[in-house]
Order: sequence, then structure tokens, then C-alpha cells
Amino acid sequence: MDIRGQNGTVKLRPPNKEDYFYNEAIKALRTNIQFCGNNIHVIMITSSIPGEGKTMTSFALARSFSQIGRKTLFIDADIRKSVMLTRYQVDIDVYGLSQYLSGQIKLEEVIYSTNIEDMDIIFSGRFAPNPAELLEEELFIQLIDRASKEYDYIIIDTPPMANVIDSAVIAKSCDGAVIVIESGKISYKTAQKVKLQLEKSGCRILGAVLNKTAVQERGYYAKYYGGRNKYKYSKDTEQAGRSKWIQRDKAER
Ligand SMILES: Nc1ncnc2c1ncn2[C@@H]1O[C@H](COP(=O)(O)OP(=O)(O)O)[C@@H](O)[C@H]1O
Ligand SMILES: [Mg+2]
Repeated sequence: MDIRGQNGTVKLRPPNKEDYFYNEAIKALRTNIQFCGNNIHVIMITSSIPGEGKTMTSFALARSFSQIGRKTLFIDADIRKSVMLTRYQVDIDVYGLSQYLSGQIKLEEVIYSTNIEDMDIIFSGRFAPNPAELLEEELFIQLIDRASKEYDYIIIDTPPMANVIDSAVIAKSCDGAVIVIESGKISYKTAQKVKLQLEKSGCRILGAVLNKTAVQERGYYAKYYGGRNKYKYSKDTEQAGRSKWIQRDKAER
């Protein structure tokens, strides 16, 4: 049976934090992923710690694939601390991954279509006390297997990699991973740890996104005199966040 959008449509209202440059960066990320090969369809977005931008990046990426007509499924696998329902102002009761993985509902009941054309979604579902155990279930593999037949891309938003096991479990079902690194916040060692963990699970690393990079205060020319100019971080970065794609070979160094 067809599993796409069986469960009604949910209206998502993304917060207005993306500007022209952000959207261009996401388009570049999409293009780079497409160049990674024809066999890359199931992609997880991960990072070392919370707040680096996994959810924002993965949502924008999923939407970006749908905008070029690719049938895309966004999966929120951050069962412990999902922000989807509040951030995207979903005002109805929805089922989610945790209920599917614990056998309470069927696969076709967990996928919703959205107001974004060609983009469907699986929410995280109610908090589960033992998500790692849940995710190890054969049901997750079945979900990805079946969804892969009906969607061009499956983008999985994950919990942070450090200290938790869920991401490693998800990694096994993915064709590739993108690591989000918050600019100026993550040490080389911490980033390496994520990379090693992914490699251990046999997941190909497609590249890294350097997120929330500094925004220059005074226009274009300031760029060439970076040393003497101030950069805006914090609140202003929220308005005009930039992100940058780093190809795998560079990410490795
Ligand atoms: N490139 C960016 N520019 C500005 N703000 C960003 C950017 N990426 C993420 N944020 C903001 O940072 C916060 C954390 O992002 P989020 O995607 O929820 O991180 P994670 O999923 O890794 O915990 C959110 O408020 C989000 O809007
Ligand atoms: Mg998140």
C-alpha cells in the first residue's frame, strides 16, 4: 500500500529566520549532496551538541529538495527534545515516531503530508524514556526501507551525537550524513569524535556545514580587512545567519 501522505495534511509555519544568503547556502548544500552520487537518498543531519542548527538545517534542506519537485520525507528523530511542534506552530495532535517504533500505530498512520508541496513529515512523537532501545527496533529499518521506495529523499533530523546512542543507530540506515558545526563553538576534538562515531557505524560522511558564521557589520569591502572589523554574533546572527558547506575531503582535515 502507498504510505505517502495517508494521514492528512499538517500546516507548518516556519519561523522567519532565513534570509536570501541562508537560502542560497541551503541550495548549495542541496546541490553538493546531489553531486555526492545517485545512491544518496537517505541523509541524516547530525552534530556534537544541541543548538548547532541541525533542525533548522535539516528542515531547510528537506524543503529545498521538495522545491525542485523531489518527493521528500522529513523525519524528526529527536525523540527526547523535539522542538518541531512549537517552532513550526503545529496546533493539532499528531502521532509520531516514538508511537510507531513502540508498535502503537502503523507506518501509514505516522506520515503526514504538509502545506509544503512534495514534503511529508514524521514527527518525533511523545517523549520515550528509552529512545535508544526504541530506535534499535527492526521497525526503524522497515520504515526506511518502505519510505525509500516512495520518496526521492529522506532527511533525518537527529539528536546530538555526543553522549547519546540514537544517532549511531539511525546512521546504520542512512546512505550518508551531514555534520553541522556551529562556527567558533566546537573544538576540533569534539568534531572529530562525531566523525569517528559515524565512521564506526559505517555511515558515509557527505560533508559538513559550518553554521552561524559571523556576519560582517559593514558591507562587502569589510571582508578584505577582516582583522580590523568587528563581526556580529549572537542576536544578529539569528536574523541573518549564514552557513557554509564544506566538502568531505576538506571536512576531514
Ligand atoms: N544559520 C543560522 N543562523 C541563525 N540562527 C540559526 C542558524 N541555524 C540555527 N539557528 C538558530 O539556532 C537555534 C538552534 O538551532 P536548531 O536548529 O534548533 O539546533 P539543533 O537542532 O542542533 O539543536 C535556533 O534558534 C535556530 O533558529
Ligand atoms: Mg534539533
